[in-house]
Amino acid sequence: MNRVLGGGLVPGSLVLVGGEPGIGKSTLLLQISAMMAEDDEIVAYVSGEESVSQVKLRSERLGIAGKRIFFLSEPDLAAVLECLESLAPGLAVVDSIQTMYLDDIGGMPGSVSQVRECTWRLERWAKQKNVPLLITGHVTKEGAIAGPGTLEHIVDVVLYFEGERFSSYRVLRSEKNRFGSTNEVGIFEMSDRGLLEVHNPSEVFLSAYKDQTMGSVAVPTLEGNRPLLVEIQALTTPNSFSPPRRIANGVDFNRLLLITAVLIERAGLKLFNQDIIANVTGGLRVHEPAVDLGIALAIASSFRDARPVSGLVAFGEVGLNGELRGVSQVERRVAEAIRLGFKSCLMPRLKAKPAFDSGDIELTQAGSIAEALRMGLTGGVGRGISRDEHTEQE
Ligand code: TYD
Ligand code: MG
Repeated sequence: MNRVLGGGLVPGSLVLVGGEPGIGKSTLLLQISAMMAEDDEIVAYVSGEESVSQVKLRSERLGIAGKRIFFLSEPDLAAVLECLESLAPGLAVVDSIQTMYLDDIGGMPGSVSQVRECTWRLERWAKQKNVPLLITGHVTKEGAIAGPGTLEHIVDVVLYFEGERFSSYRVLRSEKNRFGSTNEVGIFEMSDRGLLEVHNPSEVFLSAYKDQTMGSVAVPTLEGNRPLLVEIQALTTPNSFSPPRRIANGVDFNRLLLITAVLIERAGLKLFNQDIIANVTGGLRVHEPAVDLGIALAIASSFRDARPVSGLVAFGEVGLNGELRGVSQVERRVAEAIRLGFKSCLMPRLKAKPAFDSGDIELTQAGSIAEALRMGLTGGVGRGISRDEHTEQE
């Protein structure tokens, strides 16, 4: 949390934590409250959506005794501000901003005018009292908190709490931070005792990874400034009866379409009658173009029944002409792959000789996707030959 905040909570700052319902925002803020209370701060925890008994139950489950944490279940912001005034806490939490309302403002709680005005008043209170204030906001399907851009410019820090609902990992990203970099992410694991910091994310996300598995490729990505090895899986399956389907779990859907088109047109893979499913294990979402090559290799591996070469990681952006494009922070990615014991790194051509020590890992540079498939996969049903042709040949 401190890392994502850029060092810690700044007094007088208003921090918005956005995320889908059920993702863990309330739990996160309750745990932060407990930590601050342990540091001898008085904490005001205001909830407009949960009752005293609900929050008490959760606290007990999380092992939070609650000393110095004052709880208020109240959606009327005027009453909330009065309470904050008399309590004079060292940290305040308001969960969620959409449940708060002001009588003198029109519209339902959660409407743009209500949410905006409530945020303004809380912002003023935080600045006046020089107290950090954390608020939560539910995001809509489109990923906006109470309508696009409603709050982002009012608050000092915008964090997004993300993860797949049924996965136990959560990523906290910074979208805006007046006090620090937005390149830091926090990675947490959910447990029955609350959120735990994940110290070694690559090991966690690769824990089920097996070398040379068909359709599975390890990719060193960057989450903010942190290198993180993830496993990209793909499965292709023939479908001659309906338009082929593409399913992207954790990777960008449009990137999947682009990569599939490039594999068909530039590498000769006959994927047009194949359903293709691409997946990032562990419920992570990775949206940087550096994962393109991993997706492409995983698809080709599954389609051709060809295994990735032993100990392989791969990264690189795929261009429409089938070219492999360079990505940022090559050294960081390679270092993480070395740290986790990988032996071979397939990547785009470097402009110059690498200025870093590549240690025990073999760097293989490819200029095109076709070349990368040749270098990264072994065995299988021939190069550039589709499964049907292979059967015909047999
Ligand atoms: P909650 O914090 O209520 O999510 P939000 O405020 O974003 O809607 O968490 C949702 C549910 O998940 C809740 O039943 C508690 C459970 N949970 C855990 O059991 N362990 C955890 O570490 C977290 C974060 C949540
Ligand atoms: Mg909640």
